[in-house]
Amino acid sequence: MAILEIKKNKEPVLKKRARKVRKVDKEIRQLIVDMVQTMAKGQGIGLAAPQVGVLRRVIVIQGDFKGQRILGLINPKITKMSKEKEKGTEGCLSFPGVFLEIKRAKEIKVKGLDINGKKVNLKAKGLLARVLQHEIDHLNGILFFNRLGIIDKIKLKLWH
Ligand code: NI
Repeated sequence: MAILEIKKNKEPVLKKRARKVRKVDKEIRQLIVDMVQTMAKGQGIGLAAPQVGVLRRVIVIQGDFKGQRILGLINPKITKMSKEKEKGTEGCLSFPGVFLEIKRAKEIKVKGLDINGKKVNLKAKGLLARVLQHEIDHLNGILFFNRLGIIDKIKLKLWH
């Protein structure tokens, strides 16, 4: 197990698209274990592989998954998004101290693979739906401030 270095702010890797995982092997499982540790140390509730400099489609999330507290998801994909959206405060381990109000779909469905390479389908709402959308965005090089509305973007520019 290892604590990985979290890439921050303007590191180019954060804006890149991550590659799909072809095989859930030892290397991927080790990455997930290390990411879980890194997330816990940073007191985050989600972490995506590009944030530790690895351009693979892997995320870890803290939540409640039928008695399981932490979920590692490989090749996660949003299959359904509610039209209804809600605003909520988000932070990101790659942008310490930055908290933004972001509008996200209230409910989503996600499919992917678990740490054993088995297919998983999950339904999420509220905070869990928000964290999943935030982490899956990371896999596409999209950062939370990219999701700000135009007015909020202008406000953010005025502050900085
Ligand atoms: Ni983040």
